[in-house]
Amino acid sequence: MKMWSGRFRQPLDPDFERWQRSFGFDRRLLHYELAASGAHARALKNAGVLSADELIGILQGLEQIGERATASPSFLDDPEAEDVHHFVEKQLVSLVGELGYKLHSGRSRNEQIATDLRLYVRAAIDQLQHELAELCSVLADRAEQAADAAMPAYTHLQKAEPVLIAHWLLAHVEMYLRDAERLADCRKRLNVCPLGSGAVAGATLPLDRGFMADSLGFDGPTANSIDATSDRDFALEFVNALSLLALHLSRWAEEMILFSSQEYGFLGLPEAYSTGSSAMPQKKNPDLLELVRGKSGRVLGNATALMVSVKGLPLAYNKDLQETQEPLFAASDTLWQMLPLVTGWMKAVEFHEEQMQQAAKSGFMNAWAAATYLVQRGVPSRLAHERIGKAVQMCLERSCELQDLPLGELQSLSPAFGQDFYESLKLASVLAIHDVPGGTAPVRVRQALVATRETIASLREEVHAHA
Ligand code: ARG
Repeated sequence: MKMWSGRFRQPLDPDFERWQRSFGFDRRLLHYELAASGAHARALKNAGVLSADELIGILQGLEQIGERATASPSFLDDPEAEDVHHFVEKQLVSLVGELGYKLHSGRSRNEQIATDLRLYVRAAIDQLQHELAELCSVLADRAEQAADAAMPAYTHLQKAEPVLIAHWLLAHVEMYLRDAERLADCRKRLNVCPLGSGAVAGATLPLDRGFMADSLGFDGPTANSIDATSDRDFALEFVNALSLLALHLSRWAEEMILFSSQEYGFLGLPEAYSTGSSAMPQKKNPDLLELVRGKSGRVLGNATALMVSVKGLPLAYNKDLQETQEPLFAASDTLWQMLPLVTGWMKAVEFHEEQMQQAAKSGFMNAWAAATYLVQRGVPSRLAHERIGKAVQMCLERSCELQDLPLGELQSLSPAFGQDFYESLKLASVLAIHDVPGGTAPVRVRQALVATRETIASLREEVHAHA
């Protein structure tokens, strides 16, 4: 039996009927639908609508539906079910008879879908937070292993200054930790329960909303029934947070692709995550990285689809809202499948530290440090910059580096140059002068690593508390 056929005289057009169904994708909400239905049934009993025996019958029925779905996914192949709510009602009636129709007393699918989706997003956030903690901790491990080895940092993709490999890896961790924080923030705001909002104006029976919210682990009931049934902000916030995460992964992938090219030679691609060419026998291609970069486009597309679906919708429920489900599922599936692979790749990649270190020593990576040397000796910064620029020009003519210029020639540029200038040009000295919080001086990077580990540990604790 349909959930709404009484006032209709004609059957639905069969093509329309098939086309408007959502059970093909909202079946994945089944366990949330069952949990929310259990809470509603208990509230019905407390409101005196169900007897104690009826409640037991319904709860046992709901439990059986969950067990059957878990035991055999083909149990869900029901061509008649319109959506997950209809499916549960149909199955419940087939298990417990007409009593099953009592479950829907005083509620609407509008509040149910809003509740199921909140539960879905909450669980997805918990899962993704866990994956992010894993990724960050592997990045931190790799940072620790790289110790004081250096590499070039780039601005405009031109060699800029040397940094510790660890400093570069921790930059990526910062991005992912912000993603985790954004998800935690989204979780806080979404954790309120629409149950009892009815179709739009609030339940028609005296249901204890606080009780229902509590039993589903929500912080409390939503404040307004119109908003509760029309709001999908939580889904938008979530998918937008995922877009940012996907963008970060895409930037990460792009850097790794560049650094693994023969021209840079910084990274050895892990074979377990690369593929060959059907034509060129020598090739090893960074497929995982390229797919990560590519999939970020889809996640951005999902976020756009979601926002456009909601734009201009009058309050409260409109069937357009059904269209918010698929992009939501697609975005979270993409991320939770991708993150463990990224973590695996990060664990397996080889750093060619020799080459990185070599690249950190050449190409005037010490020019700013050289100018700083003059500044320390009282030369005004602009003039020091200009003098070192001249020295670089001399080197370019002779194809050498600053440390190869004889002191006499340097002194013709500025009398402030002394023998100790050469010491200040060495990689270790160049790194060491970036001695500010957040800078790449080894002592600062070691502190940053400790702080990062602490943040990861508290992220893990948070995930654990929600488990
Ligand atoms: N399948 C619907 C959705 O996802 C459930 C809510 C249906 N409500 C309604 N009034 N037709 O939005």
